[in-house]
This record gives sequence, C-alpha cells and structure tokens, in this order.
Amino acid sequence: MSNAPAEEVPTEEIDLAIANQVIDKYLTLPGNLMPVLQGIQEEYGYVPKPTVALVAERLNVYPSQIYGVLTFYAQFHLKPRGRYIIRVCVGTACHVQGAERIVETFFDKLHIGHAETSPDLRYTFEKVACLGACGMAPLAMVNDATYGSMTVQKVEQIIADYNQRPMK
Ligand code: FES
Repeated sequence: MSNAPAEEVPTEEIDLAIANQVIDKYLTLPGNLMPVLQGIQEEYGYVPKPTVALVAERLNVYPSQIYGVLTFYAQFHLKPRGRYIIRVCVGTACHVQGAERIVETFFDKLHIGHAETSPDLRYTFEKVACLGACGMAPLAMVNDATYGSMTVQKVEQIIADYNQRPMK
C-alpha cells in the first residue's frame, strides 16, 4: 500500500520526457531556472516533485534552492490543480453583496474547501481578494470567464455547465 497523500500523483505517471524538452529549450540561457519552472508548470499544470529532482540535476542547482523559488512565488503550484479553477471574490464590495453565501454554496456543491482540488481534478476552488470589478459584485470567475451578480442559482448553473465540459 502506498503512503503517498491522496492528491499526489504517483511518480510513475509523470512523463519526464516533457520536462526534459522544457529544460533542453532553456539549457544555455543564463538565469534559466525561472523559465524552466514556468515551462514545466505550463506543461503539467503544476510542478511535480520528480521534475524538481530532474531540474536540480540538469541545471546543477540544489533542490532546496528550487523549492525556495517555488514557495516564494505564488504563481507556482506543487500539487495538481483542477481543469477548472473557480475563484470567488471575498473583497469588501463582494463581501457586502453576500460573497460568503456564494462561497458556501460552492463548498456544498463541490465538496471541496478553499484552495482544494476535487479528487477527479475537475475543479480547484479559491477565495480571492478584489478582482477589480466591484460593480459586478458578488463576483466569481472560472478560469478566464467572469460571472457577475452571483446568486445561489447561478452557482448551480455554473456547476451544471462545467460538469458537462471536457477535461482536456
Ligand atoms: S471586491 Fe470583489 S471585485 Fe472588488
């Protein structure tokens, strides 16, 4: 039996050929650690542990140095993320317009909490600060799509819609 946490993808499922291609692309570039890590995240959707070991070996840097970068920059993710990233704004304007109810409804319907990913990797849910469209409060986003004046009914419609969408 594996001791790996449920959300961790087993090492054997990571195709390191893709990471090697990304590293090849930037190998001779000075200061290549950031573009390599960004490229890996673009390909896999996150930075899998085995790719960190590979990058360390091929760029001749310590894994601890790489983890330092990965944890410092919020753009990087160390765990798999959902195909659809749902963000609900909990900034002041959205809070006043009932954002917490919207958040709770997503929690109830998706059975995941803040910064969690559904086991089927369809959804990641995040509460976020002001998204800069306060006039549309309460506001939600799914990937790049914006949904304003959110209601409980709209949450249900969004989930029904995205449940039908492809995973690729
Ligand atoms: S407070 Fe939600 S968009 Fe500004």
